[in-house]
Amino acid sequence: MNRSTDGTSCSVPRHVAIIMDGNGRWAKERGLPRLEGHRQGAERAREVVEWAADAGVKQISLYAFSTENWDRPKAEVRGLMALLSMLLPRELGRMQKNGVRLLTLGDLSLLPERAQKAVNHACHETRLNARIDLILCLNYGGQQEIIAGVKHMYHWVCEQPEPEKALESIGVEQFRDFLWRHDLMPVDLLIRTGGECRISNFHLWDAAYAELYFSDIYWPDYSKDELQYALNDFASRERRFGQTSEQVSKHG
Ligand code: FPP
Repeated sequence: MNRSTDGTSCSVPRHVAIIMDGNGRWAKERGLPRLEGHRQGAERAREVVEWAADAGVKQISLYAFSTENWDRPKAEVRGLMALLSMLLPRELGRMQKNGVRLLTLGDLSLLPERAQKAVNHACHETRLNARIDLILCLNYGGQQEIIAGVKHMYHWVCEQPEPEKALESIGVEQFRDFLWRHDLMPVDLLIRTGGECRISNFHLWDAAYAELYFSDIYWPDYSKDELQYALNDFASRERRFGQTSEQVSKHG
């Protein structure tokens, strides 16, 4: 049995974050346009939220569009944004039925208006659902989030009667309050598909103590079994949070 960041025992990760990589290669191997890979990927995204909810996961973050993804070919960016605008209204009924609350992480202001509207509408409509949170990460970058946090903190510090004292009072927990989304649970398990072993600017702060799991499967081929392998692997890990194995087993 391993422990969560708050010290409680848990064998199911409360917050799972996924880098859904491999859509392009999946499509290329089949002689299909890259966008078809994203379309199939979006189907898996919908399913994985339901599988995760069934497994007892409380929050799932999906890296749908990074701050760096704007540099992709214009047609691909347009296609991804169109997919978002089209899919969210279509998926709303299913999200309601499955108790999925949609949240976002990232700077939505740069998204096309239609996509922003679709996202905001789905967030509003699902706000009372409580089975699982789906955190759609859009125009998200971990470094950008930390820079925004530093700026936010600077303004707060300047407004305090004793700015130096206020600055001194900032620790890890306090700084977290200045990030874009300080209401999320720390990431327990970070999964990346597609065979690459890097975290690509995803959840840099909140995944500080995440267990990392890399899978060679291309995202459109992801399955319930694949998720279960990752969850089993997580359950078998000893999370030490800087302590020794002996200390951890004494508390456990
Ligand atoms: C990475 O695969 C995937 C993305 C950049 C987009 C992920 C998006 C989805 C799964 C669709 C759902 C999201 C929206 C916005 C509706 P890649 O294209 O880098 O694959 P490759 O490494 O094989 O080229």
